[in-house]
Amino acid sequence: MRILKKILKVLGLVVVALVALVAFLLWWTHPKRPVTGVFVREAGAGVFKFTDIPRGRVLSAQEVDGYARRLLGEMTLQQKVLQMSGDSSMWDLIKLVTVEKGKYNDYPIAAGADTRLAIPPIAFSDGPRGVVMNHSTAFPVAMARGATWDRDLQRRFGDVVGKEIRAQGGSLWGGTCVNLLRHPSWGRAQETLGEDPFLLGELAVPSVEAVQAHNVMGCAKHYALNSIEETRTKVDARVDERTLREVYLPHFRRLAEANVASFMSAYNKVNGDYAGESRHLLREILKEEWGYPGFVMSDFFMGIYDGKKAALAGLDLEMPWTKAYGGKLVAAVEKGEVPLAVIDEAVLRLLRRKIEYATRPDPIAYPATLVRAAEHAALAREAAEKGVVLLKNDAGLLPLAEGSRKTVAVIGRLADAPNLGDYGSSRVYPPDTVTVVEGLREALGAVSVIHETGADVLKALAAARAADAVVVVAGFDQSDEGEYIPQKPNENEWGGDREDLALKREDRELILSVAAENPRTIVVLIGGSAITVEEWHEKVGAILMAFYPGEQGGAALARLLLGRANPSGKLPFTVPKDAAQLPPFDNTSLSVEYGYYHGYTLADKKGWEPRYAFGHGLSYTTYAYANLSLDAEEAKADGTVRASVDVTNTGSRAGEEVVQLYVGFPASNVDRPVKLLRGFEKVALAAGETKRVTIPVAVKDLAYYDVGGKAWVVERTGYTALVGPSSRAADLLSAPFRVTD
Ligand code: BGC
Repeated sequence: MRILKKILKVLGLVVVALVALVAFLLWWTHPKRPVTGVFVREAGAGVFKFTDIPRGRVLSAQEVDGYARRLLGEMTLQQKVLQMSGDSSMWDLIKLVTVEKGKYNDYPIAAGADTRLAIPPIAFSDGPRGVVMNHSTAFPVAMARGATWDRDLQRRFGDVVGKEIRAQGGSLWGGTCVNLLRHPSWGRAQETLGEDPFLLGELAVPSVEAVQAHNVMGCAKHYALNSIEETRTKVDARVDERTLREVYLPHFRRLAEANVASFMSAYNKVNGDYAGESRHLLREILKEEWGYPGFVMSDFFMGIYDGKKAALAGLDLEMPWTKAYGGKLVAAVEKGEVPLAVIDEAVLRLLRRKIEYATRPDPIAYPATLVRAAEHAALAREAAEKGVVLLKNDAGLLPLAEGSRKTVAVIGRLADAPNLGDYGSSRVYPPDTVTVVEGLREALGAVSVIHETGADVLKALAAARAADAVVVVAGFDQSDEGEYIPQKPNENEWGGDREDLALKREDRELILSVAAENPRTIVVLIGGSAITVEEWHEKVGAILMAFYPGEQGGAALARLLLGRANPSGKLPFTVPKDAAQLPPFDNTSLSVEYGYYHGYTLADKKGWEPRYAFGHGLSYTTYAYANLSLDAEEAKADGTVRASVDVTNTGSRAGEEVVQLYVGFPASNVDRPVKLLRGFEKVALAAGETKRVTIPVAVKDLAYYDVGGKAWVVERTGYTALVGPSSRAADLLSAPFRVTD
């Protein structure tokens, strides 16, 4: 027995020694070892130290290029290749799991520091819910902001993000996810802005421009076709060229045209190649065809596998560490398998962006006190208010009349839980969150608000019976949907694709039994995208889609429920009656076909009536649309058609309405959607007020992609402008026009 113990002890020591040796070797052989301090916190947060490059004025593109080339000329091959990968090492991962207890991206993640040439690293901070670092302001998830259809709000959101990043040493915001919502089961649906390419582009651009105005680089991700979570690192998204160009890429192109500083490639494959190794996506389309001048980084850890292929394809930066690049890429260049020109091009793209962003004058100073400034919380509340969509409101149940009310029962396990969205890379960690219960108690006084989780159904029903009105908060949290984060055995995994489009059985049963007790039942839905409501929607008086409304979500919902604010959100996706009204969603196969139709284009084509149409959203007031006219009946292919319409607030409260413009293709010679969103304006109207709203449509945006001719074609034929409050045919006024030579 003693001998056995001794042997075990010796073996134990050997194992410890071996682990230490491996760890030492990992550190010793790490290509970034000469650069002290892999994370920016250690390297001197966000301080750009290019020597000899003038700062404080905007350098011309030629000057930036000249400085970049001068630096490049001073670099060895090794130094160049080091620019092309993130500065993290295995140690950072170990530290993250152990010392930092999994609090991801607490400080910027660095890439491409070079101490010899005083080249600062890129300092990455994630989003899109705000800034992931430290304890920044947690905004409503991107999908909620998508539901605002509010470019100006997105611009103001980007302004806050830019300030909070700079105040914490970051220089790049990885938070512009514009993957199209192909199917609401997609786990990361909450991170994007909707199902429509036009809406995605229109809403993403102002936020990126505002972030970049603070000299923080933007990043468009995940390029492209990333819309299934559980197989995201393996699945091959198969797509034909026309679908790729017309459905999955236009919003990325808008961001490229807006000069977003960088792109992030997706984990998945596209037509057989990993997106980060896809020459067609990166080099042919993005860099050559669109003439994009910025750089492309990989998604983290599992973005690329074959460094040679990725470099040749045009992937400039491997994140967050060296796996496929580093020594392997140096060897490939030395063997002549990767031309030095490819490396030089990548490094120049990175250096140009670094120089451009480091030297431009800052519009303001960025003290640490900027983080969580009071006006940031106010904006988070405004965004939540404007993102909530009133799906249904029978007999004006809402808003709750403040004077006559006895009590409000707030029921549901999510009603008093901070529930900001998933626990993946977009998680923001605010110190406080206002829950729905807290928001209502703050507004009405604690005694008027009774909270029951629903765990004790009888108590919940008694509360519902006694109350003047009932608010049931139902939906999802980080264990149901989100970026997939595996957990230890026997622990619930975080995220993944949503299993069911309907609410969980317990929520559905709770709603039905509560509504049976009290017809004045209002359901507040929490989730990242469409939730089907078939089983219970007729039984309740009102439904609000609240998404994950951010740290001020409870305050915003209280104001909406009480009529202190008027709902103006519109669905950025279709809510189907059931999954049969959607394209197939398959998160087990390793090859999935992405078709041309989804969302409202699919429903239109099939003649399906969804439960709630894309663009639907009610208000406490009503609007009437009249007198649609176009500025001309004919337009040239490079011209613009302007549609004008009178919108009248016919109710008794002020409100904001999103006026939507679709274009129909009745005379097309090719298969086209029945209609496509091509414009929208948000207009504020006092009670009784009428405004004439004009929406321009660029005729070039009516083109389809001709695969044979490899060109965009605007057909010279008849089109229809369709204007109204939603995409529902019955809601739209129409006016014909022609495109001529
Ligand atoms: C996500 C990206 C994110 C990156 C860095 C990845 O897991 O897919 O969206 O930007 O991590 O945090």
